[in-house]
Amino acid sequence: RKLIILDEAGSTNEYAKRIAQNVPEGTVVVAKRQTAGRGRKGRRWESPEGGLWLSVVLKPPRVDPRLVFVGALAVVDTLSNFGIHSGVKWPNDVWVSGRKIAGILAEGKAGEYAVLGIGLNVNNDVPEELGKMATSMREILGREVSLSEVFHTLVGNLDHWYGLFLNGRDGEIVSALKERSIILGKEVKIIDDETELVGRAVDIDVDGALVLETPGGRVRVLHGDVSLRF
Ligand code: BTN
Repeated sequence: RKLIILDEAGSTNEYAKRIAQNVPEGTVVVAKRQTAGRGRKGRRWESPEGGLWLSVVLKPPRVDPRLVFVGALAVVDTLSNFGIHSGVKWPNDVWVSGRKIAGILAEGKAGEYAVLGIGLNVNNDVPEELGKMATSMREILGREVSLSEVFHTLVGNLDHWYGLFLNGRDGEIVSALKERSIILGKEVKIIDDETELVGRAVDIDVDGALVLETPGGRVRVLHGDVSLRF
């Protein structure tokens, strides 16, 4: 496997997108720190040393929202390999006891490549202002963990879930995601740009959409930010 290890990157997703067309599928770009790490919706993603900041170049036969699930499931399994129980907050966050520990950012060019970016708080400090909303493996375990062990475990788990995706086993991916979902059965508020939708999260359908039971009936939601506290 082609591995690109950088001391510093602006954003490994940006780096991976620049080289995507010239490298084999599965190439991983990992940086010790990022100076311009990004989250969804152009948000900043704090990426100091000690965390795991990586992007994988994929050449999937189809562009698909379920690619994000591949990343999320790989992170959940990795945490579980280190004894940490976590869950997925649809569509792309991984949470441990009410706090975010990882986020996934999928980008790409249809028909050409996809970049799956994963940020996982391992031994890094989480920003003060996120203190109550974010956590790290170190904080949960009460000790530092080997970043390279976490890295290799995560890459192995990514191969596993991406393998299922390539074999068209979407049903298994979606049902695994449902099992690990922290929002199913709960009252949620979905915020997407200007629109707000309140209802009970009842399902994640085979296309990866979140199904909400609202006063006006069932609604399928394809993207948005989910808020559980309101
Ligand atoms: C989110 O929760 O909004 C997604 C966060 C994704 C962060 C990772 S860190 C590696 C890769 N490079 C980036 O700039 N972002 C992703």
